Amino acid sequence: TTHSDHATTTADLVVVSNRLPVDRSAEDDDWRRSPGGLVAALEPVLQQSGGAWVGWPGQPGAEIEPFTFDGMALVPVVLSEEDVELYYEGFSNDTIWPLYHDVISPPAYHREWWDAYVRVNRRFAEAAASVAAEGATVWVQDYQLQLVPSLLRELRPDVTIGYFHHIPFPAYGLYAQLPWRKQVLSGLLGADVIGFQRVADAGNFARAVRRQLGYETKAGSIKVPRTEAEGGGTRTAIAKAYPISIDVAAYDELARRPDVQARAKEIRESLGNPKTVLFGVDRLDYTKGIGHRLKAYGELLADGRLDVEDVTLVQVASPSRERVAAYMQLRDEIELTVGRINGDYDTVGHTAIRYLHHSYPREEMVALYLAADVMLVTALRDGMNLVAKEYIASRVDGGGVLILSEFTGAADELTQAVRVNPHDIAGLKDAITAAIEMPEAERRRRMRALRRRVRDHDVSDWSRSFLGDLALRSGEAATS
Ligand code: G6P
Repeated sequence: TTHSDHATTTADLVVVSNRLPVDRSAEDDDWRRSPGGLVAALEPVLQQSGGAWVGWPGQPGAEIEPFTFDGMALVPVVLSEEDVELYYEGFSNDTIWPLYHDVISPPAYHREWWDAYVRVNRRFAEAAASVAAEGATVWVQDYQLQLVPSLLRELRPDVTIGYFHHIPFPAYGLYAQLPWRKQVLSGLLGADVIGFQRVADAGNFARAVRRQLGYETKAGSIKVPRTEAEGGGTRTAIAKAYPISIDVAAYDELARRPDVQARAKEIRESLGNPKTVLFGVDRLDYTKGIGHRLKAYGELLADGRLDVEDVTLVQVASPSRERVAAYMQLRDEIELTVGRINGDYDTVGHTAIRYLHHSYPREEMVALYLAADVMLVTALRDGMNLVAKEYIASRVDGGGVLILSEFTGAADELTQAVRVNPHDIAGLKDAITAAIEMPEAERRRRMRALRRRVRDHDVSDWSRSFLGDLALRSGEAATS
């Protein structure tokens, strides 16, 4: 076969994502596994099947040979400085990201960005094609790579292709803005199974396919015309919801560790042992509703409904996409607001907001979750929001209250959370005080139900269910 010429070994399962599942440490130049749940879910599957992972190593211009890491073959894709600017910061994070999150920030439409997106998606498809064994399964991840399914299918009609979309898929009226709306839909439809976080996302996608391409869709089955090279006729693509989750056991284990619990106590002490610790943790992104959260909290202090002697908000904002203008502007706004609130309400001994522009290792995150009486998830739009699930998985003591925006994918599952519309500042303020004052019995009852839900839907169930459906598709293709 032609494809084995390009790589020394080939794999029966290939994962393709914008970032490789490893980061290079600044200190010693060694590769470390990235913290995300996706890595935790897929690593065991790839190890068992001798699989490969194709992705960008995270450094512009880095030309790195394929290497093995923890039993996975990693295949680096090179992105030049210009690719990073036009494909990653530009089209992925300044066009698709804001458009798909309901235009919270205005998307920019630039033809040079689109050209770079096509070019880089082709590079990822070629890398996947060269490492996939005959009849392999290839699983493409997320919005940076929406054209990879169809580009890969052209190169390798023998492989079974899955795609999972980690972020929202917007309503048709918004999606229709995209100048390349047809091309993106056709790109995705190269996959046999197209997975989304919510039923509503899969529905939005199917509607866009009907309106833009005129294909027949029935209950998530889409009839896609085959190209002449594929022998004509039609094939079926499936669009369906597979809500992602976290490595629940890993959080549970950390939260039971005495040193982590001691650290949680220490955190509360270092805040001056307030009666209530409120906690928010997000990538510093305009989708997360951090400003709405701060507005509600600041007003509660101004109204005298909360007192800085009793309550502290810890806000971790991890640095993200710092060269994109909308993110720079957001950072300025948030830091101005934090400074104003603290300036107005801090006392020498107590702070209103402990603001931390850092990311932390998982141990520290779990200690913070354990230290937090009320967790604030106020996203204006979020594909899933795994922080909500991490908080629940960490509360092995059965305590804590989760305030959860109804605009997250997680809200579909976590029905026992205190639901909020973050745009409704009065409602958000009431939800925060209700959470602080919630009777212990109700708190525990809600957390018990939330913990049951998260425990029964681990990230390994997510990957198993997606790959199971994909295996059914490849079986059908073989017999038809
Ligand atoms: C979201 C996206 C991921 C992305 C992550 C971090 O969760 O769905 O695809 O990797 O944000 O963003 P970054 O731009 O740093 O990869």
